[in-house]
Order: sequence, then structure tokens, then C-alpha cells
Amino acid sequence: MFPNTGSRSRLLHSRATLSLPGGNSRHTVYFPPYPIYAVRGEGARVIDADGVSRLDLINNYSSLIHGHNHPKIVEAVVEQAHKLLAVALPTEAEVELAEILCDRLPSVEQVRFANSGTEGVMMAIKAARAYTGRRLIAKIEGAYHGSSDSAAVSTSPAPNRWGDARYPTSVAEPGSGPGTADDMLVLSMNDVEAGRASLRQHGSELAGVLIDPLVKNLAFQPASPEFLAMLREETTAAGALLIFDEVYSLRLGFNGAQQALGVRADLTALGKIIGGGLPVGAVGGSAEIMTALFDPRPGKVRLAHGGTYNANPLTMAAGSASMKLFDREAFDRLSLLGDRLRAGFEEIIRITGVPATVRGKTSMVGLFQGRMTGGTYRDVVAQMKSSPAIVERSARFFEHMLNNGVFFGAAGFFVLSTALTEADIDFVLDKTLDGFRMLATLPD
Ligand SMILES: Cc1ncc(COP(=O)(O)O)c(C=O)c1O
Repeated sequence: MFPNTGSRSRLLHSRATLSLPGGNSRHTVYFPPYPIYAVRGEGARVIDADGVSRLDLINNYSSLIHGHNHPKIVEAVVEQAHKLLAVALPTEAEVELAEILCDRLPSVEQVRFANSGTEGVMMAIKAARAYTGRRLIAKIEGAYHGSSDSAAVSTSPAPNRWGDARYPTSVAEPGSGPGTADDMLVLSMNDVEAGRASLRQHGSELAGVLIDPLVKNLAFQPASPEFLAMLREETTAAGALLIFDEVYSLRLGFNGAQQALGVRADLTALGKIIGGGLPVGAVGGSAEIMTALFDPRPGKVRLAHGGTYNANPLTMAAGSASMKLFDREAFDRLSLLGDRLRAGFEEIIRITGVPATVRGKTSMVGLFQGRMTGGTYRDVVAQMKSSPAIVERSARFFEHMLNNGVFFGAAGFFVLSTALTEADIDFVLDKTLDGFRMLATLPD
């Protein structure tokens, strides 16, 4: 049972707090009163330090598109490890993964590898500034794009600092460099009119607009087609670059989010699934932009970009194996599993009458306590504040699922892997129904 003061996870966490701040290396993996410690993965399942096996419905927040230890990915990594772990030379493995990505993503003719989605976005921002010679990057209030200074602006601003709802104030994270907030322009999600006015007002300083078309931490809020069209029009008119963050939302289409949504970006930040489960990030775009910025041949380089582990052979081998496995059939099957989970959740809400909201697309599914309306950051904050019961219900549901063999993202995120079966999804739905029956007995 979780929590359990005598459990090995509890003891490991106590021990961890001595050598790691709060026992933690990554905020999203902490949950109270202590996180469960993982020992092993097997396909769709993760086994914890107390020997408890659970279905993994978060898949390392998306990176494990094929679940744990897929034999073909493990084989590729082991084979590569026997040949070469790391080297201060390029390898064929990076050419292969680059070719796979360029074939698959229509706006990506060339790609530059890094080690995390944070770095991919950071390089995309830097590239847009270097290419245009301008300073200002626009982003959506509440959207998470990793932890670099610029990208982290207004990810979770406090109400006393966020300013006007339609023309939000740019708020830098504590510890950001001076000028960080001034070099960012913050837009409200899907407000076409205000967004257009802001971009026009700052057009001559605008280097780029950064957009994730399905914002996970706005409860999987999709960007509307009108909003995306406006961003494309205004960036083109201003001579600025449109940057898609597909670190997560590459999952929206077999050929990525842009193909699925009918938009062509100038730069695309990548991460997560393209590394087959190992650390990865990348920025891609047209050969014209990418070569102008990153070509290292004498007299050419405009943007310095080093990185001891860029395109490291293990990640490249895992990424190629993983992307080959994620063919059209696998993509379609995974999307159907997502549909099955969403439909089942909707049905459970209907049967139990528990106020909750189902969101997400393809293999990304959200199940959030409370009835959500609107899709801006401020709507999400207002929703959370509207009832203290929402936080309590989320925690109770998470605990119920942990104690019934299902692990997911505590705030309500389910990100699927091809290792899951229809029977696994039905198991999750059974346990969800029990959980919602329990929630129905709680006071509002
Ligand atoms: C949309 C988006 N961009 C960027 C990142 C940063 O990626 P990483 O955690 O690999 O640094 C994330 C991570 O969750 C993300 O969801």
C-alpha cells in the first residue's frame, strides 16, 4: 500500500534527502508524502523498490514511446555500447537519425542534435535571434518549454505579477539573467486579436514566436487553427521565425504536429521520443536557415554550438531504432488506444457524475478533476482555486490508482506507449471507475 512508512521507497527517500535537495533531481517526479522509487521496467510495466508492478501510463513524460526495454532498442544500444560509447568525432549513427527525422518532418531539412528538449528549445530561440538579428521572442503564458531562462518566462507567473489578461506581463523565473523578461513577449493562448496586435506592435524587434500546439501544462489545451494561422501570418509579415516546440507534440501526427495541423514552421524543437528513451534534444529547420547558423566550415559559423554529448552514439542508436519502430501502423494503433482511454474516461464521468474533464489527442490523454472551461493559463489557475476539493480529489485518485496497479502523471496526465494493449487500457478504465465511485462519496 502507498503510502507506507515501512516501505523501501520511503526509506530511500529519507536517505535521498541527505544528499539531494528534498531528495530530488527533477521536480515532476516528486509527489507527497514521498515518491515511489523505480527499480525495473518491463514493457508496459514499471516495478518499484518494494517489488510492486504497475502499468506505466506516463512513460517518462512521453520519451518512452515503446515502453520499457523494447528488445530492438535494447539490442541497438547494447550493440552500439560494445562498439563505441562516446567519441570526439561524428558517427554514422547521427547521420542515420538525422535522415530519419528529415524524411519524416516536412519542414525539417536539417537537424542539429543536443541532449534535452530544454536545449533544443534554447537553441531554437538562440537561432531565431541570431538569424534575424533581433531580440524579442513571443511565447504563450503558462506554456512550458523547458528550463532555459527565456523559455521559462511566464511559465507559472503569480497573479500579483501577471498583469493584463490579454496583454500579459513578461515574468522571469527567479535566478534568470537581467533582461530576460524584457526580451520576451507574452501572449494569451488562442486570443487571436490581442496576439495579432502585440506581434504587430513589436514587429520590428520580433525574432520569433514559440508555440507548442498542444500545451500540456494548460491541461492539453490545443492551439486553435485561427491562432496558428495568425502566428504564421504575423511572423512572416514581420520577417520573424515561427518556432514549433514539438518536444511533446511530435506525437500529434505520424509526420509530426505541423503536418497534422497544416502549418509549416521555420524552426522545430524536438526531444523526448526521438531519442528512444535516452537523453536527447534537437532543433531542425530549412537547410537555408540551419546551414546559415550552424555550418562549422571555415568562415561560416554564426552560432557557436558545442556539447560533449551532442549526437552521442548511444542516443542516436536508440533513437533510430525507436523511430523505425514507430511506423504509421504503430502510430495509428497508439492513437486508437488514446481514443479508447478518452472515451472510457468520458463514460466513467457520465456514470459516476464526478465533475472531471477529459482532454488530449492521439496518444496524449488528460483526465483532470473539475469541469474545465476555457484554455488560458488564467482559466487553469481560476479552476484550481475555485475549489480546494480539486487538489484533494486529484491526490486521492492518484493514490487510489497507485494502489491498484496504475502509475500516471499525478496531475492527470496519461501518455501512452506501444507496449500497452487494449486489455491494459480496459484495466486502467476498471480501476478508474472504482476510483471515481470513491470520489463520488467525497464532499464537493
Ligand atoms: C513542450 C516541452 N518543451 C520542452 C521540454 C523540455 O524537455 P526536457 O525535459 O527534455 O528538457 C518539455 C519537457 O517536458 C516539454 O514538455
